[in-house]
Amino acid sequence: MDLELTGKIALVTGASSGIGAATARVLAEEGADVVVSYGRNEAGARRTIEAVTAAGRRAWLRQMNVTDPTHISQAMAALKNDVDGLDVLVLCAGQNIITPFEHVTPDEWNQVIAVNLNGPFYVLQAAIPLLRDGGSVVTVASVAAHTGVPQHAHYAAAKAGLINLTKSAARLLGPRVRVNCVAPGLVLGTPMGDYTATTMAPDYAQKRLLTQRFGTPDEVARCIVFVASPVAGFMTGATIDINGGRELR
Ligand SMILES: NC(=O)c1ccc[n+]([C@@H]2O[C@H](COP(=O)([O-])OP(=O)(O)OC[C@H]3O[C@@H](n4cnc5c(N)ncnc54)[C@H](OP(=O)(O)O)[C@@H]3O)[C@@H](O)[C@H]2O)c1
Repeated sequence: MDLELTGKIALVTGASSGIGAATARVLAEEGADVVVSYGRNEAGARRTIEAVTAAGRRAWLRQMNVTDPTHISQAMAALKNDVDGLDVLVLCAGQNIITPFEHVTPDEWNQVIAVNLNGPFYVLQAAIPLLRDGGSVVTVASVAAHTGVPQHAHYAAAKAGLINLTKSAARLLGPRVRVNCVAPGLVLGTPMGDYTATTMAPDYAQKRLLTQRFGTPDEVARCIVFVASPVAGFMTGATIDINGGRELR
């Protein structure tokens, strides 16, 4: 299927590893040029740049700490020198800290909320003037937003807030720009997914998922890119669950 992304310009936060890196690569494979945004992992972001250019598309590297609104405004202003607008914005940067509910410190709480909830808000707010008519935004939440998780309640709460933020943004920006959320279940092969998996029983997927296996970064990336694409033009304010049927078993 042609996702009608040829020649479009996308920005992906959290593109230095995992799902964000896979999303940047899939966007390029579908014909988009990609601004590869990262926090600390410049080497990873450069690998993503190589993947985008290997797909024959243009790529720009942008360091952007999503917890710092001043830094984000400066990065967005500088971006205007390279691109005259954005068709796709994927807000994938995230962080989890696994700490039992009763032991979460104020610093841990603030850090996880800062990256997973404040970050998408600051980046989206700063990007609004750049978003082109017909464009779209995809936020990346988690199944944890629906279920709650006592081992990382701060992360689950931040992602639940992000789902709601997605709806506010969709209402603000419609009909000009669509805003949707993709909420994955556990995805292995990313630093965060592999870290989270250490807290789960070895037979978790077998017992709790209809797929009886966890997800891959590519599967989630393809879902994000479909939702971001003009082909999903009637979809906005939605949350798309991609979790192996987690809630059904
Ligand atoms: N893997 C899973 O099981 C799973 C499940 C549900 C939802 N998710 C969500 O999917 C998204 C991607 O996760 P992943 O599994 O691909 O994890 P990952 O590989 O660890 O990626 C996390 C990304 O977030 C970026 N990041 C973290 N703090 C940042 C900051 N302050 N400023 C800018 N960037 C920052 C990291 O960039 P740097 O390293 O460059 O700082 C990295 O690129 C996250 O939002 C996560 O919550 C993941």
